[in-house]
Amino acid sequence: MRSWLCCAAWLAACSTQAMAQVGNVPLSAGDADKRAAATERAMTNDERVTLLNGILAMPYGDTKVPEGVPFGAGYIPGIARLNIPALTETDASLGVSYIGGMRGDGATALPSGLAMGSTWSPQLMREGGALIAGEAHAKGFNVLLAGGINLVRDPRGGRAFEYLGEDPLHSGLLGGAAVAGIQSRNVISKIKHFVLTPTEIGRQFHNGIINEGALRMSDLLAFEIAIEEGQPGSIMCAYNKVNGAQACGNDPLLNGVLKKDWGYKGWVMSDWGSVRATDFALKGLDQQSGSQLDAAVHFGKPLLDAANQDKRYRDKVSDMSRRILRSIYAVGIDQNPPRKAPIDFTAGAAVAQEIAEKGMVLLKNQNNVLPLAASAKKILVIGGYADAGVLSGAGSSQVQGEGGPVVSLPTMAEGPFAPIMAQNYHRSSPLQAIRARAPQAEVTFRDGRYPAEAAIAAKNADLVIVFATQWMSEGLDVPDLSLPTGQDEVVAAVAKANPNTVVVLQTGGPVAMPWQGDVAAILEAWYPGARGGEGIAAVLFGDVNPSGRLPVTFPASVAQLPRPGLPGAETIEPNFQGYGKPGQTLDIDYNIEGADVGYRWFARKGAKPLYPFGYGLSYTSFERSGLAVTGGKTPSASFTLRNTGARDGADIGQVYLVETPLGKTRRLVGFSRIDLKPGEARRVEVAIDPRVLADWTSKGWKIAGGTYRFALGASADDLIEEAQVQLTERTWNYAK
Ligand code: BGC
Repeated sequence: MRSWLCCAAWLAACSTQAMAQVGNVPLSAGDADKRAAATERAMTNDERVTLLNGILAMPYGDTKVPEGVPFGAGYIPGIARLNIPALTETDASLGVSYIGGMRGDGATALPSGLAMGSTWSPQLMREGGALIAGEAHAKGFNVLLAGGINLVRDPRGGRAFEYLGEDPLHSGLLGGAAVAGIQSRNVISKIKHFVLTPTEIGRQFHNGIINEGALRMSDLLAFEIAIEEGQPGSIMCAYNKVNGAQACGNDPLLNGVLKKDWGYKGWVMSDWGSVRATDFALKGLDQQSGSQLDAAVHFGKPLLDAANQDKRYRDKVSDMSRRILRSIYAVGIDQNPPRKAPIDFTAGAAVAQEIAEKGMVLLKNQNNVLPLAASAKKILVIGGYADAGVLSGAGSSQVQGEGGPVVSLPTMAEGPFAPIMAQNYHRSSPLQAIRARAPQAEVTFRDGRYPAEAAIAAKNADLVIVFATQWMSEGLDVPDLSLPTGQDEVVAAVAKANPNTVVVLQTGGPVAMPWQGDVAAILEAWYPGARGGEGIAAVLFGDVNPSGRLPVTFPASVAQLPRPGLPGAETIEPNFQGYGKPGQTLDIDYNIEGADVGYRWFARKGAKPLYPFGYGLSYTSFERSGLAVTGGKTPSASFTLRNTGARDGADIGQVYLVETPLGKTRRLVGFSRIDLKPGEARRVEVAIDPRVLADWTSKGWKIAGGTYRFALGASADDLIEEAQVQLTERTWNYAK
């Protein structure tokens, strides 16, 4: 029995000595439940409501951030009498965010979400999460607003770079692993944004319309899996509406799916500025966050008054505060409070570089132009501020490294959010890293301002490396899949002038690449984080063998998307907060693709993308074979991966469901990232989650009886070998 159980009166009464015996080991789920219930019983309604209302923890309007509280996204006071710690919150999907430099310190910038997603590695996600949590803890934070796992339903969505991909199993497993890494350091992680938030335009009011089955089988499934894998202490509800109700006041989703069906025991926090009324509490929201950004404080005094008068509210307020306490105890943030300490930027950079290298995707490598030959004498580097650093995405997730950005270009002239909307570059120059690896070569740089000038310079080089960028930001979608500021023209002109043109992309998400057929090689480096320049050079020169695989489909054009025109683009003025004009509405019909997000939509339509989901090249070659699938209640697949080339390399085995008794389909059902030496072969087994085989029906999940066909893939579009299994009909739901 844990030491706190011996305390006569549970909570405050736990002696310091007893606490010390617990150390930083969090409580088991059952113990956390009991302790939360006991603490909550001892609280007054005033105290309960204190836990349910947070502020934006930075100077904003009249806000006074209490002394000693670190500037960050949020703050909720603790209750000293009951040893309940204050909650100090920071954004942290890609590292501890810098909130426009307000805090005056930096942190390790990890690569973007899609870069992490391209690793297909839960292990790396866990390491990345633990690293962020360690830095957050050392800066005074105990709650991380991390875990962006919305599915990339539209590659133009401004936050695509923060998310992990377009497949629910992949996003769920990777997102859950990141949460587990964070919480292993006694820091609470949440996952966000619950749910259906693929685009930013009109983000405070746009209304996603989708039928229940499609939602359960796609975006909700990603959350469901991530919750099971990572047990996040909190969930952040989204800004937008889903089927007519604001996501943060959405009774069917919050009380119904999340809390009742899935039995989620943590708390639901609002996104910043997404609460419209006190009755959101009855609809399943547990905490109002950043309340200065809402029209009113709905969860402070109004909630207290309601709780003092109305039993429904009184019961709810008990449940809401118990949920927060439960996460505090289950993760152990009270046992191991944040302690200010210096950041080990060297250790952080190593993790960031490893993720960047393992997440870069080699898209094209004609005649094995990569890895770069040591013999090149004249290398020309063009564009992308490659002489200075690597690009970062903007918005609340923006992280700034030691010393701040090396280049910072304003994108918004004024307003409180201007600093977090800057186009920033981390201090990791690809040009310098290339020079360091090619001491014998003359390496020159042109900024790529004019296509004609770049082409003239390209003619005189042995090899040209063009750095092309697509900046993306929270609050702003991109209108199409082009590279901005004329970069497509620059690449085209350079490719015409020199056949040895290598393009390094730093993009938030997929881009169209009209010049794709004319260049020799393309490396997708995403936003590669604190040591991105070094990572890019390591891959270009072959110190690292590329192993990333696309977690999103690269369409050939927007015409292939479910919604070729971006909804709202013509009627709504893009702006960071996205409130729109009074009364403005925007319905977005997601029933067009339903659960067939990304590659599934392309398979349904028989459309050929530019680069498919799961795709990526290597400097070695692999053979994938021997697919076998077993059925029953816990189905699984096994296959053999062999490195048939001459270099060490990692492959990602991918198994897809291609047909059920109901018809053809395409669903990723299992994957595994495996390192292989030349000539080495490994037999790999992956469990298959029955939910990915099933469809959601009025009775819950249903596996239709009959034949299920599976395929082993080098990507969702390159299916090599098939196996089939008979499954018996099965229906299950969440009824207790
Ligand atoms: C974003 C959230 C973020 C919050 C706090 C909002 O604008 O949507 O992802 O966690 O701000 O910074």
